[in-house]
Amino acid sequence: MPTVRDLKTKAGDEPITMLTAYDAPTAAIIDEAGTDIILVGDSLGNTSLGYETTLPVTVDDMARHTAAVARATDDALVVADMPFLSIGVDEAASIENAGRMLKEADAQAVKLECGPHTVELTEKLVQVGIPVMAHLGLTPQHVNQYGGYPRQGTDQKAAERILELAKAHADAGAFSLVLEHVPANLAADVTQALEIPTIGIGAGPDCDGQVLVVDDVVGLSEWAPSFSKQFGNVRAEMESAVDDYVSAVESGEFPAEEHSHEEADLEDLY
Ligand code: KIV
Ligand code: NA
Repeated sequence: MPTVRDLKTKAGDEPITMLTAYDAPTAAIIDEAGTDIILVGDSLGNTSLGYETTLPVTVDDMARHTAAVARATDDALVVADMPFLSIGVDEAASIENAGRMLKEADAQAVKLECGPHTVELTEKLVQVGIPVMAHLGLTPQHVNQYGGYPRQGTDQKAAERILELAKAHADAGAFSLVLEHVPANLAADVTQALEIPTIGIGAGPDCDGQVLVVDDVVGLSEWAPSFSKQFGNVRAEMESAVDDYVSAVESGEFPAEEHSHEEADLEDLY
């Protein structure tokens, strides 16, 4: 198993690859492809649980799906996202909730949507042995403040705030930083300023790595943000397989002789 210390850093290495996963079969495919990090994102709420935002996702939801991913993963680093209000309110509760992802669900690290309220918590989590991936820029758990999902760090003051928080979390001991939906030049500057690797989503090409939501990558999502890229069309494949199944049952074409178990040697039952 690789650890957070094996994560390649800046200085000319190949970019770090990260994808989300929420279930065992998807995690196995991503792991076998040699992806460096699997994030069990709280995007689970949107991709798999049918919610409109990530806010309803619970610690129990994250623990169950993280455990499924970890059981199917041999090589990638498994990182569990901490859902809305599970951290950053009360320190003891934050540590207990984050700890469940390692103790119960076999993650190797947690990701926190960060702000001024997570600097000390990051330090504390690292002290007790829970590696922290920080997340700045667009933090979707703030959807009700944003009124949507707008790009962040677009004016000088906001950009400086993101850089300061990035440095504060790196100083507190975070092992990497996700930058979501920020200008590419801001992401490049933050990457330059930090010792720890940055992983971008909608943050341009100059981060140390890239992350996307797997449903967007394989073409399963009904909607995807403009900064993601669809590399396949799993939705079309599934639609066609399901249509074919329904037609085959309705027409009596399935099950055919070869799908039917041989009859047992029974007396007539009635
Ligand atoms: O929940 C998620 O999928 C994420 C990534 C997009 C970074 O937080
Ligand atoms: Na998330």
